[in-house]
Amino acid sequence: MSLSLVSARATSSLLPGAVSSAPCSHGFSQVSSIGFLSLQHSHISFRESSGLLGFQLPSLKISRELETPLVRQICRAALAPEVEAAVSKQSWRSKEPKDTTVMIVGATGYIGKFVVREMVNRGYNVIAVAREKSGIGGKVDAEQTIRDFPGSTVVFADVSDTDSITSALQSPNINVDVVISCLASRTGGKKDSWKIDYQATRNSLDAGVARGASHFVLLSAICVQKPLLEFQKAKLKFEDELVNYGNGLTYSIVRPTAFFKSLGGQVQSVQGGGPYVMFGDGKLCACKPISEADLASFISDCVSDVEKVNQMLPIGGPGKALTPLEQGEMLFKIVGKEPKFIKVPIGIMDFVIGVLDNLSKVFPNLEDAAEFGKIGRYYAAESMLVLDPVTQKYDADATPGYGSDTLEAFFDRCVREGMAGQELGDQAVFKS
Ligand SMILES: NC(=O)c1ccc[n+]([C@@H]2O[C@H](COP(=O)([O-])OP(=O)(O)OC[C@H]3O[C@@H](n4cnc5c(N)ncnc54)[C@H](OP(=O)(O)O)[C@@H]3O)[C@@H](O)[C@H]2O)c1
Repeated sequence: MSLSLVSARATSSLLPGAVSSAPCSHGFSQVSSIGFLSLQHSHISFRESSGLLGFQLPSLKISRELETPLVRQICRAALAPEVEAAVSKQSWRSKEPKDTTVMIVGATGYIGKFVVREMVNRGYNVIAVAREKSGIGGKVDAEQTIRDFPGSTVVFADVSDTDSITSALQSPNINVDVVISCLASRTGGKKDSWKIDYQATRNSLDAGVARGASHFVLLSAICVQKPLLEFQKAKLKFEDELVNYGNGLTYSIVRPTAFFKSLGGQVQSVQGGGPYVMFGDGKLCACKPISEADLASFISDCVSDVEKVNQMLPIGGPGKALTPLEQGEMLFKIVGKEPKFIKVPIGIMDFVIGVLDNLSKVFPNLEDAAEFGKIGRYYAAESMLVLDPVTQKYDADATPGYGSDTLEAFFDRCVREGMAGQELGDQAVFKS
């Protein structure tokens, strides 16, 4: 059986390309003729070369079930030459997940925890890097962290200290194939953002590469498209260094929209009969919220899916983009109460930020308070959607959706079961 692969990179046109005679499996085994196979936005389609028996497999997404060596080979045929060259040198890509070691930093965070569990469930050899005291307020001790991550190896280190993370991986001699970073400043304060979103992430990259890592998956944020805040600038500096790292290192930069925890802050007050507070008319911004589990799945896909190599990946959850007004209406419907809104003029925030900014010039310890004000202002008015670089307008249709968990189901669960696991912790304001 021979299969002629004529592939096109994210387009529907068929171009002359690589030829493969690899054996088919997982649905391709019935394909016994010469044909054309193309990659179109994560979908594979096949057409016989004669055109007479052409058919398509319209929704054949490159899922885990399909990640056979053949499909990997097919996908590679569609990659840009430099990506193809880098990927072909990554010997772990042809191995089973159990033989692939993935180091996860920021493992104890809201998203990191789910990524560790997802990667363990997918069968990878997972190294979860944690602090001895982790979680919000450092309330989780080392024994609890080990209990929280069955199936993984927990390594305790301080990623903000190069020597600490380097030596933790040297003994007991851990070799790493892939690094996933879910690190983030827990406060969003200026210094802490540079310490964690930039420096600690850079330390983790260097330590991982020193142990053999050749692919880095970064949990970033969609808001870095319009960088006005310090943590966004810190993230962008790291993104830039990652993209230009060289030496065969590949990357996937995941830029999600809002997390559920960032939108759940008013569930309990609305449930208790309070109003829903929003800025302006409640339509100043919108987002496509994504759950922890769905985002963890998308991040995990970035390890195995070669289409996600060397890509910036904005990502939201399923369904349409929602404004704060729509989120509030949804919440009132779920709690079964008459909608009651408080609309705060956005100008009030500008006034407060102006005052704090001026005071911080005299009292430097107010610098972070001013920054938190700016973070709040940013999320009150900026959408968490793809920003059109030409029009500078947010574009819901251009923001990809992933997964199946909806905000409505999340609100419903919070109303019935409470907000456990959705705490914002040190994040005094909505931080993306
Ligand atoms: N909130 C949103 O709606 C939203 C939307 C889009 C993107 N994002 C982005 O998603 C990312 C992750 O968010 P998240 O909510 O999962 O973060 P998180 O819950 O605050 O977790 C942060 C992780 O970083 C670690 N970390 C923080 N400070 C550290 C330090 N000094 N030393 C060592 N480790 C430290 C934490 O470890 P410990 O447990 O030891 O503290 C934790 O594992 C952030 O980059 C954020 O900007 C957020």
